[in-house]
Amino acid sequence: MCIEILPLSDNMGAEVRGVDLSRPVERKTADLLQDAFIRHILLLFRGQTFPDERTLLNSAAWLGSNAHITMPGNKFGDDGKYIHLISNIRDETGAPIGDLGASDLLYHHDNSFTNAPDMATYLFAVELPSTGGITLFSNCYKAYEALPDHLLKAIAGRRVLQVYDYNVNERPSKERLAQMPSAWQPTIVVHPVTSGKVLYVNPLNSMAIEGYGEAESDRLLEELFPYIERVDYALEWRIGDYIIFDNRCSAHARTEFPADQRRLLKRGKVAGNPMIAAVVA
Ligand SMILES: [Fe+2]
Repeated sequence: MCIEILPLSDNMGAEVRGVDLSRPVERKTADLLQDAFIRHILLLFRGQTFPDERTLLNSAAWLGSNAHITMPGNKFGDDGKYIHLISNIRDETGAPIGDLGASDLLYHHDNSFTNAPDMATYLFAVELPSTGGITLFSNCYKAYEALPDHLLKAIAGRRVLQVYDYNVNERPSKERLAQMPSAWQPTIVVHPVTSGKVLYVNPLNSMAIEGYGEAESDRLLEELFPYIERVDYALEWRIGDYIIFDNRCSAHARTEFPADQRRLLKRGKVAGNPMIAAVVA
């Protein structure tokens, strides 16, 4: 079948047609997908079906190996390690079958609070509400390019403290920082394949800029967040949609949806490496 790659917006994203991800991908197709992934940052495959968890787990083998899910608790699909359920659905006992509820979710880079954040994340839509639950994406190369000189100078060569509170869909409370997973990351990273510079600060996880007092650091972060909160692509999901995005050069957020409607996405991740600090002259 002929493979088509169709851009979804000016700044990021492409729809791939003619690939069935539930089947092993040939070498030639893998090369093409890898190239498109780097070039477009996000790839969308519509109308996908995965008969079991194993085929979903193999869906990104053309890019790399699956990373362990880090969210705590026993909500991770049948295999228990690599597939994570993003859902507000509750089982017959009233317990959530997945994570993140129905509220909105601030822009973030997945697992920025670990020493080796994921290279990529993939999501597959199983059940969807009638409205809301849109996933927003920003191109973080563009976020870096848009920084004014005074902000660039203020953060160049410095690190940012990335933290995540698994219990809430909002910025962690400063009082609980010591109890949460965290990692110091470069504020500006360099993409290992493209060598492009990327702003690696986000409103969900970033709690402090190295070398500043609390008030100055907070002020800087507030000034930086709008540069990440740009909408370069908004995905209005359809059942059967599968996306995979480069977590090293994009950030994403979610809009809220009605809590009395069901939404279920299956999520997996491709393992990554420690982030590389960019040298900013
Ligand atoms: Fe995420």
